[in-house]
Amino acid sequence: MQIHQGYGNVRKFFNSENASSYDSIVHFTTFGRDSSWKKQIINIITNQGSVLDLACGTGILSSMLTDNVVMMRVIGLDLVFDYLRIAKKKRKNFLLTNGTAEILPYKCECFDFVVSSYLAKYVDIKRVVDECWRILNHDGTIVFHDFTYPKNILLQNFWRAYFVILKMMGYLVKSWRVVFHELCQVIRTSGWVAQMTESLEERGFKNVSCKYYTFGMAAIISAIKP
Ligand SMILES: C[S@@+](CC[C@H](N)C(=O)[O-])C[C@H]1O[C@@H](n2cnc3c(N)ncnc32)[C@H](O)[C@@H]1O
Repeated sequence: MQIHQGYGNVRKFFNSENASSYDSIVHFTTFGRDSSWKKQIINIITNQGSVLDLACGTGILSSMLTDNVVMMRVIGLDLVFDYLRIAKKKRKNFLLTNGTAEILPYKCECFDFVVSSYLAKYVDIKRVVDECWRILNHDGTIVFHDFTYPKNILLQNFWRAYFVILKMMGYLVKSWRVVFHELCQVIRTSGWVAQMTESLEERGFKNVSCKYYTFGMAAIISAIKP
C-alpha cells in the first residue's frame, strides 16, 4: 500500500511526549468547543448497536459514547499506541485496536456506526470510506468530524491570528510545538470535506449531509449505508 503523506504528520504530531496532555490541550485550544462538536456526533447516534471510534486517540469520544448512549458496544482504533495507553488507563474495559484506519482488522458488516473526530485530514479518504463501507451493516451510519478553514474573509483573519498565537505558545509547550506550528497549514490545505462528500456518494452512501459549526471552523459529515 502506498503510504499517505498524512502518516508523516501523525508520526510528528502524536507521540509518547504529548499523549498525557492531549485531553487538556484539545479542550483549551478549542475553547471547549471540542466537547460540543462531539456532542453533535453523539446526537446522530440515536439507537443501540456497535460503534467503531476510528482514530479514538485517548478515548474522549469513546468515553462520551459509553456514558451517553445506552446499550452501545464501543470499540476504538488508533495508529498511535501511546494514545491508546491513555484511553485504556481511563477505562479498563475499553476494547481497543492498534492499527490504521485504511486497513481495518474487522470482518465485513460488523458495526452499526463508525464515528471519527479529527482523522480525515491525515488519511487517504477514499480508502477509509471503502473500509467503512465494508465493515458497516446495512442501514449503518458513518460520521466524520474535523476542523475546516472558514470561508468568510473576516473569520479567516481571526483564524490566522489565532494560529500565530498558538505558534508562539509552541515555544513554551515543547511537546506540542510541532503541532502548533504545522496544524494551521494541514487544515488549510486539507480539502477533506469535498473529498469525503465525493467519496461517500461515489461509494453508494445515501443521505450524505454536511453541517458546519462554530462559524465554519469545524464540520460534521454523516451518511448511511443503504
Ligand atoms: C487529533 S487526534 C484525535 C483523537 C480523538 N479522535 C479525539 O477526538 O480526541 C488524531 C488521532 O488520529 C490518529 N490517526 C491519525 N492517522 C491515523 C490512521 N491512519 N489510522 C488510525 N489512527 C490515525 C492519531 O494517532 C491521533 O490519535
